[in-house]
Amino acid sequence: MSIHYEAVSEDQVLCIRDLCNELMAYQKTLARIRPELFDSMCFETRMIPSLKRAKANLILIAKDEDQIVGYAYSNISPKETYSNEFATFFDLDSVKGNDVGCLSQFYIREKYRNRGIGTVLFERSMTWLQSFASINNRFIFVSNGNDQALRFYLGKGFAISHPILDGFITVLRNS
Ligand SMILES: CC(C)(COP(=O)(O)OP(=O)(O)OC[C@H]1O[C@@H](n2cnc3c(N)ncnc32)[C@H](O)[C@@H]1OP(=O)(O)O)[C@@H](O)C(=O)NCCC(=O)NCCS
Repeated sequence: MSIHYEAVSEDQVLCIRDLCNELMAYQKTLARIRPELFDSMCFETRMIPSLKRAKANLILIAKDEDQIVGYAYSNISPKETYSNEFATFFDLDSVKGNDVGCLSQFYIREKYRNRGIGTVLFERSMTWLQSFASINNRFIFVSNGNDQALRFYLGKGFAISHPILDGFITVLRNS
Protein backbone atom coordinates (compact mmCIF):
# COMPACT_ATOMS: atom_id res chain seq x y z
CA MET A 1 0.00 0.00 0.00
CA SER A 2 1.43 3.31 -1.06
CA ILE A 3 -0.65 6.26 0.10
CA HIS A 4 -0.18 9.69 -1.30
CA TYR A 5 -2.09 12.92 -0.78
CA GLU A 6 -3.35 15.54 -3.21
CA ALA A 7 -5.49 18.64 -3.21
CA VAL A 8 -8.17 18.55 -5.90
CA SER A 9 -9.73 21.61 -7.46
CA GLU A 10 -13.42 22.39 -7.23
CA ASP A 11 -14.00 21.43 -10.85
CA GLN A 12 -12.64 17.94 -10.08
CA VAL A 13 -14.90 17.42 -7.07
CA LEU A 14 -16.96 14.71 -8.79
CA CYS A 15 -14.09 12.33 -8.07
CA ILE A 16 -15.22 12.13 -4.43
CA ARG A 17 -18.94 11.79 -5.10
CA ASP A 18 -19.06 8.10 -4.13
CA LEU A 19 -17.04 8.63 -0.97
CA CYS A 20 -19.27 11.55 0.05
CA ASN A 21 -22.35 9.39 -0.38
CA GLU A 22 -20.68 6.57 1.59
CA LEU A 23 -20.05 9.04 4.42
CA MET A 24 -23.73 10.03 4.57
CA ALA A 25 -24.83 6.37 4.55
CA TYR A 26 -22.25 5.49 7.22
CA GLN A 27 -23.44 8.26 9.51
CA LYS A 28 -27.04 7.10 9.13
CA THR A 29 -26.10 3.58 10.25
CA LEU A 30 -24.68 5.00 13.49
CA ALA A 31 -27.36 7.55 14.31
CA ARG A 32 -29.83 6.84 17.10
CA ILE A 33 -31.40 10.30 17.01
CA ARG A 34 -33.33 11.28 13.85
CA PRO A 35 -31.43 9.03 11.40
CA GLU A 36 -34.04 9.90 8.76
CA LEU A 37 -32.44 13.35 8.44
CA PHE A 38 -29.69 11.66 6.42
CA ASP A 39 -32.16 10.55 3.75
CA SER A 40 -31.92 13.87 1.97
CA MET A 41 -28.16 14.21 2.41
CA CYS A 42 -25.94 13.31 -0.50
CA PHE A 43 -23.16 14.74 -2.66
CA GLU A 44 -25.59 16.96 -4.58
CA THR A 45 -27.34 18.35 -1.50
CA ARG A 46 -24.34 18.65 0.82
CA MET A 47 -21.11 19.00 -1.08
CA ILE A 48 -22.15 21.16 -4.03
CA PRO A 49 -24.05 23.82 -2.02
CA SER A 50 -21.22 24.01 0.55
CA LEU A 51 -18.64 24.56 -2.17
CA LYS A 52 -20.73 27.32 -3.69
CA ARG A 53 -21.47 29.12 -0.42
CA ALA A 54 -17.89 29.08 0.81
CA LYS A 55 -15.32 31.82 0.28
CA ALA A 56 -12.50 29.28 0.11
CA ASN A 57 -12.46 25.49 -0.19
CA LEU A 58 -9.87 22.78 0.35
CA ILE A 59 -10.53 19.27 -0.88
CA LEU A 60 -7.78 16.84 0.05
CA ILE A 61 -7.75 13.25 -1.09
CA ALA A 62 -5.74 10.20 -0.07
CA LYS A 63 -4.92 7.79 -2.87
CA ASP A 64 -3.67 4.20 -2.84
CA GLU A 65 -2.12 3.89 -6.29
CA ASP A 66 -4.86 5.40 -8.48
CA GLN A 67 -7.76 4.63 -6.08
CA ILE A 68 -9.15 7.43 -3.91
CA VAL A 69 -9.53 5.93 -0.42
CA GLY A 70 -10.39 8.99 1.64
CA TYR A 71 -10.97 12.71 1.63
CA ALA A 72 -11.22 15.74 3.87
CA TYR A 73 -13.19 18.79 2.84
CA SER A 74 -12.68 22.09 4.66
CA ASN A 75 -13.97 25.55 3.98
CA ILE A 76 -14.02 29.16 5.06
CA SER A 77 -17.57 30.51 5.02
CA PRO A 78 -19.55 33.49 6.28
CA LYS A 79 -20.84 32.72 9.77
CA GLU A 80 -24.41 33.44 8.59
CA THR A 81 -24.17 30.27 6.52
CA TYR A 82 -24.60 28.38 9.78
CA SER A 83 -27.98 29.81 10.66
CA ASN A 84 -30.58 28.54 8.22
CA GLU A 85 -33.89 26.70 7.96
CA PHE A 86 -32.21 23.44 9.03
CA ALA A 87 -30.55 24.68 12.22
CA THR A 88 -28.60 27.39 13.98
CA PHE A 89 -25.30 25.64 14.45
CA PHE A 90 -23.76 28.08 16.93
CA ASP A 91 -24.34 31.49 18.50
CA LEU A 92 -23.25 33.86 15.74
CA ASP A 93 -22.43 36.53 18.35
CA SER A 94 -19.81 34.25 19.85
CA VAL A 95 -17.74 34.65 16.67
CA LYS A 96 -15.78 37.85 16.15
CA GLY A 97 -15.50 38.81 12.50
CA ASN A 98 -17.52 37.55 9.56
CA ASP A 99 -16.12 34.16 8.70
CA VAL A 100 -15.49 30.79 10.30
CA GLY A 101 -13.52 27.71 9.33
CA CYS A 102 -14.99 24.24 9.22
CA LEU A 103 -13.77 20.71 8.66
CA SER A 104 -16.97 19.88 6.88
CA GLN A 105 -16.60 16.33 5.57
CA PHE A 106 -14.07 13.67 6.43
CA TYR A 107 -14.09 10.04 5.36
CA ILE A 108 -11.61 7.20 5.02
CA ARG A 109 -12.72 3.86 3.53
CA GLU A 110 -13.01 1.25 6.24
CA LYS A 111 -10.02 -0.93 5.40
CA TYR A 112 -7.77 2.13 5.36
CA ARG A 113 -8.74 3.43 8.82
CA ASN A 114 -6.44 3.37 11.85
CA ARG A 115 -3.28 3.63 9.79
CA GLY A 116 -2.64 7.34 10.26
CA ILE A 117 -4.20 8.49 6.98
CA GLY A 118 -6.92 10.49 8.75
CA THR A 119 -4.32 12.17 10.94
CA VAL A 120 -2.40 13.35 7.86
CA LEU A 121 -5.56 14.71 6.22
CA PHE A 122 -6.72 16.29 9.48
CA GLU A 123 -3.39 18.03 10.13
CA ARG A 124 -3.14 19.36 6.58
CA SER A 125 -6.72 20.63 6.82
CA MET A 126 -5.98 22.38 10.10
CA THR A 127 -2.81 23.94 8.69
CA TRP A 128 -4.87 25.35 5.84
CA LEU A 129 -7.67 26.62 8.11
CA GLN A 130 -5.14 28.22 10.45
CA SER A 131 -3.44 29.96 7.54
CA PHE A 132 -6.38 32.41 7.49
CA ALA A 133 -4.91 34.63 10.17
CA SER A 134 -8.07 36.64 10.83
CA ILE A 135 -10.24 33.55 11.40
CA ASN A 136 -10.07 32.27 14.94
CA ASN A 137 -13.11 30.03 15.07
CA ARG A 138 -13.01 26.52 13.65
CA PHE A 139 -15.90 24.06 13.86
CA ILE A 140 -16.59 20.40 13.30
CA PHE A 141 -20.11 18.95 13.39
CA VAL A 142 -20.38 15.31 14.47
CA SER A 143 -23.60 13.38 14.05
CA ASN A 144 -24.91 11.33 16.95
CA GLY A 145 -23.64 7.80 17.40
CA ASN A 146 -20.29 8.56 15.80
CA ASP A 147 -18.32 8.15 19.01
CA GLN A 148 -15.18 7.05 17.22
CA ALA A 149 -14.98 10.28 15.23
CA LEU A 150 -15.80 12.30 18.35
CA ARG A 151 -12.87 10.65 20.20
CA PHE A 152 -10.60 11.32 17.23
CA TYR A 153 -11.37 15.05 17.25
CA LEU A 154 -11.18 15.39 21.04
CA GLY A 155 -7.76 13.74 20.89
CA LYS A 156 -6.70 16.36 18.39
CA GLY A 157 -7.56 19.38 20.48
CA PHE A 158 -11.19 20.13 19.61
CA ALA A 159 -13.69 20.53 22.43
CA ILE A 160 -17.39 19.77 22.70
CA SER A 161 -19.37 23.00 22.55
CA HIS A 162 -23.05 22.01 22.54
CA PRO A 163 -25.64 19.71 20.95
CA ILE A 164 -28.13 20.91 18.35
CA LEU A 165 -31.28 19.43 16.78
CA ASP A 166 -32.17 17.42 19.91
CA GLY A 167 -28.72 15.84 19.95
CA PHE A 168 -28.64 14.93 16.26
CA ILE A 169 -25.37 16.87 15.99
CA THR A 170 -22.64 17.66 18.50
CA VAL A 171 -20.88 20.94 17.74
CA LEU A 172 -17.12 20.88 18.29
CA ARG A 173 -15.00 24.01 18.43
CA ASN A 174 -11.28 24.65 18.50
CA SER A 175 -10.22 25.09 22.11
C1 LIG B 1 -12.62 9.53 11.62
C2 LIG B 1 -11.68 9.05 10.52
C3 LIG B 1 -11.71 10.03 9.37
C4 LIG B 1 -10.26 8.97 11.08
O1 LIG B 1 -9.41 8.52 10.05
P1 LIG B 1 -8.32 7.39 10.30
O2 LIG B 1 -7.50 7.26 9.09
O3 LIG B 1 -8.95 6.17 10.85
O4 LIG B 1 -7.46 8.13 11.43
P2 LIG B 1 -6.03 7.72 12.02
O5 LIG B 1 -5.63 6.36 11.56
O6 LIG B 1 -5.09 8.82 11.78
O7 LIG B 1 -6.36 7.71 13.56
C5 LIG B 1 -7.34 6.81 14.07
C6 LIG B 1 -6.78 6.10 15.28
O8 LIG B 1 -5.72 5.26 14.87
C7 LIG B 1 -4.54 5.60 15.57
N1 LIG B 1 -3.42 5.56 14.60
C8 LIG B 1 -2.83 6.61 14.02
N2 LIG B 1 -1.84 6.21 13.22
C9 LIG B 1 -1.83 4.89 13.28
C10 LIG B 1 -1.03 3.91 12.66
N3 LIG B 1 -0.05 4.22 11.81
N4 LIG B 1 -1.33 2.64 12.94
C11 LIG B 1 -2.32 2.31 13.81
N5 LIG B 1 -3.10 3.21 14.43
C12 LIG B 1 -2.86 4.48 14.17
C13 LIG B 1 -4.72 6.98 16.07
O9 LIG B 1 -4.03 7.16 17.29
C14 LIG B 1 -6.20 7.09 16.25
O10 LIG B 1 -6.62 6.72 17.51
P3 LIG B 1 -7.69 7.64 18.29
O11 LIG B 1 -8.91 7.77 17.39
O12 LIG B 1 -7.94 6.89 19.53
O13 LIG B 1 -7.02 8.97 18.45
C15 LIG B 1 -12.07 7.64 10.02
O14 LIG B 1 -12.15 6.77 11.09
C16 LIG B 1 -13.35 7.58 9.23
O15 LIG B 1 -13.38 7.84 8.04
N6 LIG B 1 -14.44 7.21 9.90
C17 LIG B 1 -15.70 7.05 9.21
C18 LIG B 1 -16.28 8.37 8.72
C19 LIG B 1 -16.41 9.36 9.83
O16 LIG B 1 -16.81 9.05 10.93
N7 LIG B 1 -16.08 10.61 9.51
C20 LIG B 1 -16.15 11.72 10.44
C21 LIG B 1 -17.44 12.44 10.27
S1 LIG B 1 -17.58 13.78 11.43
